[in-house]
Amino acid sequence: MGQNLIELAQKNSDKYIVGVDPFMNGIASVINTSVEKNIKNILLFPHPVQTFFEKFEKIIFEKVFMLFPDPWPKKKHHKRRLFRTEFVKTILKKISKQGKLYFATDNQNYYDEALIALHKENFKEMPIEIKKTDTKELILTKYFLRAKKLGNKVNFLVIVKL
Ligand SMILES: C[S@@+](CC[C@H](N)C(=O)[O-])C[C@H]1O[C@@H](n2cnc3c(N)ncnc32)[C@H](O)[C@@H]1O
Repeated sequence: MGQNLIELAQKNSDKYIVGVDPFMNGIASVINTSVEKNIKNILLFPHPVQTFFEKFEKIIFEKVFMLFPDPWPKKKHHKRRLFRTEFVKTILKKISKQGKLYFATDNQNYYDEALIALHKENFKEMPIEIKKTDTKELILTKYFLRAKKLGNKVNFLVIVKL
């Protein structure tokens, strides 16, 4: 619902914050809040993030946030997960050196698989540092609060491009 976007936009009024999600209710919510709070530095792309990166090849980001992507819990659906080696590489190509990719999930299997996807062998040509950061840094997004309410453990990673 854009909590992270709004907070980033308010704290960084000299920067553009880009929100990408095909879910129209979320897009509408961000527009409403932006109008209410007179926020003018948010850009929205209401389509899948894969399309965004194909379409806007030249934009380089400082930070990319993938917070609570759909966990696709059934094994036969794991290939639909967003956080996979190839897509992480696509994102890292679009961020600056020392730029960061943030990932959070309350699905333990997704987290375990994410760590496997980030194995050193897969990133020989693209060095990264992985930080298992404290969730206290996390913005209270809808799914973070949901995870807390359900008593689910939240795992939070920061991948730094070296
Ligand atoms: C579980 S929700 C998490 C929402 C939010 N990040 C949070 O923490 O509350 C997953 C979101 O990912 C969006 N999503 C799913 N596939 C996507 C894709 N390919 N590109 C961009 N967003 C996607 C869904 O529409 C949904 O809003």
